[in-house]
Amino acid sequence: MTDHSARIDPTKPSIARVYDYLLGGTDNFPVDREVGDFFLRELPGSVAIAFAARRALVRAVGAMAGDGIRQFLDLGSGLPTAENVHQVAHRHRADARVVYVDNDPTVLAHGRALLAADPRTALVEADLLEPERLLDDPDVRRLIDFGRPVGLVLSAVLHHFEDSERPAGLVRWWAERLPPGSLVYISHFRSGGNEETGLLERKLQESFGRGRWRTDEEILGLFGDLELLEPGLVPCPLWRPEPAAGEGDLSVWERLISCALARKR
Ligand SMILES: C[S@@+](CC[C@H](N)C(=O)[O-])C[C@H]1O[C@@H](n2cnc3c(N)ncnc32)[C@H](O)[C@@H]1O
Repeated sequence: MTDHSARIDPTKPSIARVYDYLLGGTDNFPVDREVGDFFLRELPGSVAIAFAARRALVRAVGAMAGDGIRQFLDLGSGLPTAENVHQVAHRHRADARVVYVDNDPTVLAHGRALLAADPRTALVEADLLEPERLLDDPDVRRLIDFGRPVGLVLSAVLHHFEDSERPAGLVRWWAERLPPGSLVYISHFRSGGNEETGLLERKLQESFGRGRWRTDEEILGLFGDLELLEPGLVPCPLWRPEPAAGEGDLSVWERLISCALARKR
C-alpha cells in the first residue's frame, strides 16, 4: 500500500488540515494553524461556519438514506472528524456503501487507517477535476453500482474551485452519469457581497492559491437541471434543522455557507 504520509508537506497549508483545525481536530501543522488563526481573527465565526456545514451534512446524509439511497460518493471528503458520512449512513442503513474521494495525502493517510477494516467503505485518491478516472477506479466499481441511485456529496469543496475550473460542468458531468432518483448535496461558501467576504476570499486565494465565494445565484447555477428539494438553497443551519434547534436568529457568519439537496429526475 502507498505510504501517503511520505508525501505530506508540513511547510504548506492544506485545505483539509486547516478545516480540521477549525473543527477542533489535531491532524494539522503550525502552518495550517497560522491560516486557521487568521480566519479566527478576521472572521471570528469561522468555527460556526465549519460546524454549521458539518451538521447540515449529517442531516443531508440522513435525509438521503431516508429517501432510499444506499450508496454514497463523497467528493472532497476531508479528514475524518466526529461524524463521518459512512457512520451517519450506517446508522440509517447498515448495508450502505460509501466511497470517499480526496487528493490530500494527510486525508489519505488518516482516512485509510480509519476505514481499513470496513469492506463497505473505501477512500480513493483522485483529483476531482479528473472525474473520468474515478469511474474506472476498482474501489468505485466494487462499491458503487451506477445502475442504482447514488448520493453524491460535494460538501464545502466547490468553493475551492475557480470559475475557470468549471465547477458547474463537474456537477453536470456527474449528473449525466447518475441514474434517475440519485441525489446531489452541495454546500458552498456564500458571498456576503461585502468588504469582509472580499478580504476572506483574498486570504483563501493567498493561502491555497485558489478559492471563490459565490452568490446565491451562482451557487444555484451549480445545480444545473437538477430538481431542488425542500427547502431549496438556504444557509446551512436552516436546512431541515433538528426540531430542537429552535428558531433563533442566525449569526452573520452562519449565513456565509449555504446548501441544498437536489434530485436527478
Ligand atoms: C473544506 S474541506 C471539506 C471536507 C468535507 N467535505 C466536509 O464537508 O467537512 C475540502 C476538501 O476537499 C479536498 N479537495 C480540494 N480540491 C480537491 C481536488 N481537486 N480533488 C480532490 N479533493 C480536493 C481537500 O483536500 C479537502 O479535504
